[in-house]
Amino acid sequence: MNLIGQPVDRVDGLLKVTGEARYAAEFPEARLAHAVLVTSTIASGTIASIDASRAQALPGVLLVMTYQNAPRLPNGGRPALAPPAGRRLSLLQDNQVHYSNEPVAVVVADTLERAVDAARQLRIVYQQSSAAVDFALAKPNAHAPDKPQGRQTDTQRGSFEDGMQSGPVHVNATYTTPIEHHNPMEPHATMARWDGPQLTLYDSTQGVSSAAQAVAKVFGIGPGDVRVISPFIGGGFGCKGSSWSHVSLCAMAAKQTGRPVRLVLERPQMFGPVGARPRTEQRFAIAARHDGTLTAMRHDSISNTSTIEDWTETCCMVTRMLYAVPNQVTTHRIVPLNLGTPTFMRAPGETTGSFALESAMDELAAALKMDPLALRLKNYAEADPQENKPWSGKSLRECYRIGAEKFGWSKRSAAPRSMRNGGTLIGMGMATATYPANRSEAAAIARILPDGTAMVASGTQDLGTGTYTVMTQVAADALGFSPENIHFALGDSTLPRAPVSGGSQSAASVSPAVREVASQARNQLIALALADPASPVHGIALDDITVDNGWVTSRSQPGKRDPAAAIIARAGGKPIEATSTVKPGDEKQKYSFHSFGAVFVEVHVDADLGTIRVPRVVGVYDVGRVLNEKTARSQLMGGIVWGVGAALQEESSVDTRYGRFTNANLAEYHVPVNADIGALDITFIDQPDPYINSLGVRGIGEIGITGVPAAIANAVYHATGVRVRDLPVTLDKVMGVA
Ligand code: MOS
Repeated sequence: MNLIGQPVDRVDGLLKVTGEARYAAEFPEARLAHAVLVTSTIASGTIASIDASRAQALPGVLLVMTYQNAPRLPNGGRPALAPPAGRRLSLLQDNQVHYSNEPVAVVVADTLERAVDAARQLRIVYQQSSAAVDFALAKPNAHAPDKPQGRQTDTQRGSFEDGMQSGPVHVNATYTTPIEHHNPMEPHATMARWDGPQLTLYDSTQGVSSAAQAVAKVFGIGPGDVRVISPFIGGGFGCKGSSWSHVSLCAMAAKQTGRPVRLVLERPQMFGPVGARPRTEQRFAIAARHDGTLTAMRHDSISNTSTIEDWTETCCMVTRMLYAVPNQVTTHRIVPLNLGTPTFMRAPGETTGSFALESAMDELAAALKMDPLALRLKNYAEADPQENKPWSGKSLRECYRIGAEKFGWSKRSAAPRSMRNGGTLIGMGMATATYPANRSEAAAIARILPDGTAMVASGTQDLGTGTYTVMTQVAADALGFSPENIHFALGDSTLPRAPVSGGSQSAASVSPAVREVASQARNQLIALALADPASPVHGIALDDITVDNGWVTSRSQPGKRDPAAAIIARAGGKPIEATSTVKPGDEKQKYSFHSFGAVFVEVHVDADLGTIRVPRVVGVYDVGRVLNEKTARSQLMGGIVWGVGAALQEESSVDTRYGRFTNANLAEYHVPVNADIGALDITFIDQPDPYINSLGVRGIGEIGITGVPAAIANAVYHATGVRVRDLPVTLDKVMGVA
C-alpha cells in the first residue's frame, strides 16, 4: 500500500474553492418553483383555522399547502420503518401541533421572495393546550425507552451494593448537558422533481439510499421510483442522517404544483424540525479502594425526547465499556417534552456520556489524591468488561503515554489553583476519548475505461469529510493507477448501495468494497494483457506482474510493460468492469470494536473575570489505519473544536413559556471562531485494526469531540478549584469563586 495514509490534497478541493461544486439548493432546473416552510408558533395544541386567502391572492403564488388540502398519504404519512430509521414526520395530515417550530404549511411561488412574502400573509389560529417544555418540571414523567438505538436500556454486572461496600472512597455527583442544535454551514435543502411516477430529489443528506427508501415509504411507491442525488454536503453531523419532514413536503409540493420545487430551511428552522442533541441529566455513584481500584459504578441518565418519538441519548454506552469496573449498573430514562425530536448529533451519547464519566473520574482522582491519568491506567480495561470480548485492537496505553509526554503532563502540580501566571489561573486536565468502530455492508463498482482511466463509484456520501479523496486513494492503490486517473463518484442512490454516513462508518464500510472491486478490475486487466500475444507482457508469470501508474509491468524487467488503454483497445475496446458487495463477517461476535484516544488540555482562567481560554489541546488517537493523514487530521481537529464549543459555549436555550428556542440563530447560538481555538496537536497511533476490514480502517468522524468537554471542565477545576458539572462551562459559573 503506497498511497494509503498519504496526506493527499482533497480531490474536490478545487471544485469547492472555485464554487463549481453544486450543493442541493444550487442545481439549475427549468420552471423551478420555490417553497417556504411555515412552522407552528405554539408548542402544543391544534390548528383551529387557517386563512390562506391573502397569501393565495398574491402574484406568483402557486400553492398554499396545509393540512386542509395536502395530499393524503398512505398510512397517514407515518413511515412503515420504525424510528429512528423512519422518523415521525409532520406531513400536514392532521391539525395537531406537537412542538413549536413544527411544519404546519408550505407556500410555493415562482420566486423565493414571493413565497417568503406569501408565507407571512398566512393567518393561522391555534387552539393551545398545555405543553411540557420544562425538563425539571417534566422529569417525574421519565420512563424507560425500549432498546434505544438497538442497545440495552439498562445493564447490570456484578453486585453494585457489594462494590459500594468494598470501596471506601466515594463520588456522588450529577452532571447536566444542555440541548444543542446541529448547525452545519449548509442548512437542510431539497429540490424535488417528478417525471411521471419517478421522483428525483437533490437533497443534502448523509444517506442517499436511506433517504430514497424513507421517502418511497412515505409515498407508498417503490424504492426504485425515488432517486436521491447529493454530490456535495456542507456538513451533516447527524441531523442529515434522517429524512425529515421538509424532504417529503417538498416532494408533495412538487406533485401538487406540477413543477420542480426547491425548499431550503431558514437558519431558525434548524432549531426544531430536524433534530437536536437532547438535554441530559446524569447521576454518577462511584466507589474505589484507596489505591484507585474501582469497585462499583452506577450511571443513571435521563434525557429529553419529544412527545412523538422515544429517541434516546445513549449516555451510558461509554460507561459500560471504558473501565474494568466489576460491579456496575447503568440506566437510561427519557422525558417527553413538546420540543422537536432529538437525534444523532456527533458522537450521540458518547459526547454527553464521556463528559459525565470523565468528570466523575476526575472527581474520584481528586478525592483519592491520585493523578487522574494514573487512576485511568489503574482501571485500564484489557478486554470489553460488558461484552466480555477481547478488543479488536486497543492502543489506549500508548495514547496516554504519548499524549502525556507531548503535553508535558508531568509539569502539572497536583493541587487545584496551584499554577498561575499573574492574574491568570492555569489549569491542566485530561480525559479519555472513545467511540465504537462501526461497519456495515457496502457495494461498489470499478470500471477501467478505454482511455486508460478508471471510474470507481459507490452510493456513499462525502459530508465534507474527505470521502472522495480517501476512496480515490484506496481505488488508485488497489488498481495500480495514479490518483489523477481515477474518477470517484458518490452521492447518488442509483449507484451501488452504501450505508448512511453516520456512526463514523463510511470509511470502514466503503473502503473494503472499493478495494475489492478495484483489485478485481486490476486482475482482469492483468489477465487480458497476459493472454494477449501482442502484449509486451505476454507470457510473463503472474507473480512477476504489477500494475504501475496504469501500466501492466514486469517486476523483474520493468521495460516490459503495457498501458491499460492499449490492452483494452486490442481486446475490442470494451471497458473492464467489476462490482461487488462486501459485508462484515462474524468478527463482531468475537471482538469488541472501538477507537480510543487521550485528550490533554490547558486552560487559562482570568482570576477576576472568570473568562476561560483554551490555549492548547493535545490529542492522541488509536483509530486503526489512517487513510489520509491530512483529511484525518482535519476530522479530528473539527471534532476537538466542537468539543471546545460544547465545553464552553453551546446551548440552545428554551423559553419555557412558549417552548421556543431563544437563540435560534448563529449570532446567539455560540460556536467557536478561530480566536477561540489555540494550538491543536494531533497524533495518530496508525495501527491497523486486524479484524475490522481488509484495510484495518476504523471511522474517525466522531471520536474527536469525545472527552474534550470533560478534559476542559477538569482543567477548569484544576485552575480554579471550582467543579462545574453543568455544561457549558461559562464564566458566570466560575466568576467570583475563581
Ligand atoms: Mo453521526 S451523529 O452518527 O452522523
